[in-house]
Amino acid sequence: MSFRIAILQFDPVRNDVEQNIRTIEHHLAVIQADLIVLPELANTGYLYSSPKAIEPYAEECAESSPFISALGKLAQQSKSTIVAGYAEKANKCLYNSAIAISPNGILANYRKTHLFHNEKDLFAPGNTGFITFEWKGVSIGMMICFDWIFPESARTLALSGAQIIAHPANLVLHLCQDAMITRSVENRVFTVTANRIGTEQLEGTSLDFTGRSQITDPFGTVLYQAPKDKPVLHSLEIDPDLALNKDITNRNNLFQDRRPAFYYQ
Ligand code: ACM
Repeated sequence: MSFRIAILQFDPVRNDVEQNIRTIEHHLAVIQADLIVLPELANTGYLYSSPKAIEPYAEECAESSPFISALGKLAQQSKSTIVAGYAEKANKCLYNSAIAISPNGILANYRKTHLFHNEKDLFAPGNTGFITFEWKGVSIGMMICFDWIFPESARTLALSGAQIIAHPANLVLHLCQDAMITRSVENRVFTVTANRIGTEQLEGTSLDFTGRSQITDPFGTVLYQAPKDKPVLHSLEIDPDLALNKDITNRNNLFQDRRPAFYYQ
């Protein structure tokens, strides 16, 4: 089966959701795809000094919220499901979340399980667990940025049936792109890491984001890697059914050969 995946890598601007919406609209103006993945916190940018500072730009998980509503229109226009990171507010809590929105509306909302560094001062730890959803007959899972360093994240999604892992990111550690090759191989899944570019500075902290958004197939082949410092929209065709076969040899199956009795919890 043929399924078109797109990655949008860009430089979200802090404190300006409208500007970020305009940038995304500009890049996605003519694309047709099945799945489009955007970076983490694509509505707000990354560095904030306190929950109070980011709260005005966070939004509820609702089709009427400004950022999600703009994504919904783009999903209709592109006939695609869009997975995008955003700052979510819910019940007086803030979450670092990823929305999956199709032309028919919201399919899933994931709240980041493993918060990185000072994100712990802004967001509550995610309480959704790892989520898969179905779109055009394909099972898609979501994880966000730093979730990559915990192999359990991708493993849980793969064991839940995910053929593709959509991975919005704001990466600052340089090893993730290499590690995602392993995540693909050890789970026989496609991984789609949509990273951001640029630098953010706040109160003596400066973060350089690593770009190099990447699409990797279930055998570890990097199908696409973006440049480290340029905005880019890139799409390619994959066959998601390649992720359904977990046989490594005629005597080894990735899932059936596991020995959970010998694994620590
Ligand atoms: C990260 O999780 N944004 C590094």
